[in-house]
Amino acid sequence: MTQDIIHFDKVVKRFGDLTVLNNLDFSVKRGEKVSIIGPSGSGKSTVLRILMTLEGIEGGKVTVDDEPLWHEQAADGTLKAASEAHLRKMRAKLGMVFQHFNLFPHMSVMRNITEAPVKVLGLSKAEARQRGEELLDLVGLADQAQKYPGQLSGGQKQRVGIARALAMRPSILLFDEPTSALDPELVGEVLNVIGKLADEHDLTMLLVTHEMRFAREISDRVCFFDRGKIREEGTPEELFTDPSEERTREFLSAVLDG
Ligand SMILES: Nc1ncnc2c1ncn2[C@@H]1O[C@H](COP(=O)(O)OP(=O)(O)O)[C@@H](O)[C@H]1O
Ligand SMILES: [Mg+2]
Repeated sequence: MTQDIIHFDKVVKRFGDLTVLNNLDFSVKRGEKVSIIGPSGSGKSTVLRILMTLEGIEGGKVTVDDEPLWHEQAADGTLKAASEAHLRKMRAKLGMVFQHFNLFPHMSVMRNITEAPVKVLGLSKAEARQRGEELLDLVGLADQAQKYPGQLSGGQKQRVGIARALAMRPSILLFDEPTSALDPELVGEVLNVIGKLADEHDLTMLLVTHEMRFAREISDRVCFFDRGKIREEGTPEELFTDPSEERTREFLSAVLDG
């Protein structure tokens, strides 16, 4: 077992003529909490979407938990494109929390959480429900199980989103700007839950965020993305108080003053 649970090796991602990731090298250690910051369009969401197998890659290699994500080893030892079964197995290692929650609107809160554990992991309904109750308790929504997403505030929806991701017992949790769609007064309740997870669980966390103060508090490392590359990375202290790149300084002064 290597130290890195996520490893991008010279990954290339294109959309038509647009090269979004240009030989990206990036890795995350087991249990590490890493924040990704950077301007809009720099490829932050693309990195998470590749890990969730929502986007393929055009070049390079992504490794998750010491296994290639988009490839698998053939009997003769060569790498071939991953089969659907391989992708399904790899996907189970990761959970993702989306900016716009992506809850199932026609399902109750409880069913949003239990659906995948029952359908994908094969848990019994009773087991899944028990897990759902524990997770709703963890995110402070024990009394909302029978509500529908439309009856919840944005902050509550996002806490359901977090419970739903955790219900699959992933070892890696990805967050894509989890508070960007929320009214300002609801941001704190979601950050509190994420902070609690970071403190109390050995999950690996990869968080794309514009909440600089929060990134500084919870991260072991912060990566500044710019045009599909990591322009600069370091401890929160290094990156936020003494960035070495002019581009990082420009970005930070724009978002911190704004
Ligand atoms: N499905 C897609 N088709 C075409 N272009 C896309 C698609 N997804 C993302 N892009 C483009 O890729 C670039 C990086 O996008 P993204 O990773 O979402 O950036 P970020 O999350 O840093 O704002 C942007 O220029 C975006 O417009
Ligand atoms: Mg994005």
